[in-house]
Amino acid sequence: MPSLSNWNSSLNTGIANIDIEHQKLFSMLKMLEDAHQVGFGASVVSGIMDELCDYTSHHFSNEEQQLEQLGHSQLQEHKTIHQTLLDKVIGYRQKLMTIDDRESLVAEVGAFLQNWLVQHILEVDIPAFQNSRKGS
Ligand SMILES: [Fe+2]
Repeated sequence: MPSLSNWNSSLNTGIANIDIEHQKLFSMLKMLEDAHQVGFGASVVSGIMDELCDYTSHHFSNEEQQLEQLGHSQLQEHKTIHQTLLDKVIGYRQKLMTIDDRESLVAEVGAFLQNWLVQHILEVDIPAFQNSRKGS
């Protein structure tokens, strides 16, 4: 399984609590990867996926609230992007509970979520916070 990477400073949004939450999401993906130590057991994987769903949802609402307070002009589009991802994570959680070969799906989920997160932070979150602070 390819190794997932950590948060790095190029992903800095300039908003301290958002950066901390993004870092936590990266470390949760690492936890998923580390489930190999227990052979990707169903209860461990489902526990991590539950936490990931809850925390992702918690993070998205915090982020949306802060963007709303800053008067972000594309809030609705941003919310739709978040909801689409959340639905995908929930779908993955269900699929992981019913599949026998959990290992390869865990690898797929980890890689997908990490790529999504990096691209979303760079292309959506950072511009959103930058533009909102400029008052657009
Ligand atoms: Fe976002």
